[in-house]
Amino acid sequence: MTVRIAPSLLSADFADLAREVADVQNAGADLLHLDIMDGHFVPNLTFGPPLVRRLAAHCGIPMDAHLMVTNPDDLVADLAAAGVARIAVHVESCPHLHRSLTAIRDRGMLAGIAINPATAVHALEDAIPFADFLLVMSVNPGFGGQAFIPETTHKIERLRSLAAGQEIDITVDGGVGPDNAAELVAAGATTLVAGSEIFGRRDRGKATAELRRRALEDFQS
Ligand code: DX5
Ligand code: ZN
Repeated sequence: MTVRIAPSLLSADFADLAREVADVQNAGADLLHLDIMDGHFVPNLTFGPPLVRRLAAHCGIPMDAHLMVTNPDDLVADLAAAGVARIAVHVESCPHLHRSLTAIRDRGMLAGIAINPATAVHALEDAIPFADFLLVMSVNPGFGGQAFIPETTHKIERLRSLAAGQEIDITVDGGVGPDNAAELVAAGATTLVAGSEIFGRRDRGKATAELRRRALEDFQS
């Protein structure tokens, strides 16, 4: 049993990004989670492909882009060129989800479907075979440091059973920390995004190791 830890750059020091990336990489992070927001789909703005391209030179772990934007298809080519390994698009902003996922895969990246806390899991059901991962939001997207929505755990269980028979990563994003990591993994999550719980700590190595240890504690006898 393994779990991957993906620190979310949203909680990093934006004035010192190269150093922040190196720090979480040395801390044992498996992926670097990049929250791309357009101030329209969510009430916040972050960064886009030009910054991701510059970060790639400092990043030795796979970059994981989470598109919280109204028109995600418009960013796929530039993010592929920037070296992103996987992209999640929101089911709520993709009327042609099969086309969006296929465009990501066609450019050699892994394609994921992100889902907001109040969106029914059934909205994803027929799209799961076209996805490499699911990104389950456990807060309303837009900001780091929010409280975990506890109903998410059961939602992960239901998605895991909808995806039965398919090897698919389930990533959980928002309010994840040592206290809920084990229940999320038991429910079927295989990647944990953590912003404030890693970038908000002084010792990122310790924070990453602690999160991983707590996530797997029920599986180790
Ligand atoms: C929220 C973002 C998350 C966020 C997580 O819109 O998608 O990735 O940065 O931050 P924490 O772990 O602090 O909730
Ligand atoms: Zn995110």
